[in-house]
Amino acid sequence: MKKLIGPRKVKTAVFISGTGSNLYNLIKFSKTKKSPILINLIISNTKKAKGLIYAKKFRIKKKIINFKFKKNAEKKILSIIKRNDISFICLAGFMKILSGNFIKSFNGKIINIHPSLLPKYKGLNTHEKAIKNKEKFSGCTVHLVTKKLDSGKIIMQKKVRIAKNESSNSLSKKVLKQEHKLYPAAIMKILN
Ligand code: GRF
Repeated sequence: MKKLIGPRKVKTAVFISGTGSNLYNLIKFSKTKKSPILINLIISNTKKAKGLIYAKKFRIKKKIINFKFKKNAEKKILSIIKRNDISFICLAGFMKILSGNFIKSFNGKIINIHPSLLPKYKGLNTHEKAIKNKEKFSGCTVHLVTKKLDSGKIIMQKKVRIAKNESSNSLSKKVLKQEHKLYPAAIMKILN
């Protein structure tokens, strides 16, 4: 008889604040047979996030949570996550810093993608910083989220060569292309 139900996939929420190219890429990945995740929820801290279009396009539940009062925002998110049986969170261009309490209460199953070769260039404007420091390489990192910004255990990294006369714009495009390969690979690594 034909098997109707495949192997159990991990119910996942993706948190965004902007364009959502990583979100789109993860949704595509989640629809492949090899993917260990299903994306059931998209959370954004702003209704202006362009990536929210993918919620409609792929019929995924979305919630916009205002972070003006972080404690309240995180409380709301935790309850939505519980209600939706989510057990894994991928941050993808999410511009808010989650509190230690939130991270702890979600049991450490939160990962993030960052556009630099961590531990170098934590925080914002990574491409500008790498170019200014005359680095030969930059890249991207998927890491576990801890309460210390961009400092959790590294899951996977991908290097990108910085060309002569590279602009932060061209570098960010190059790195983003690699991010789209790295994020699914890192998810497979930690969930399989
Ligand atoms: C990516 O470069 C990601 O590494 C960083 O923010 C950017 C988000 O891009 N954290 P997108 O919204 O996924 O297109």
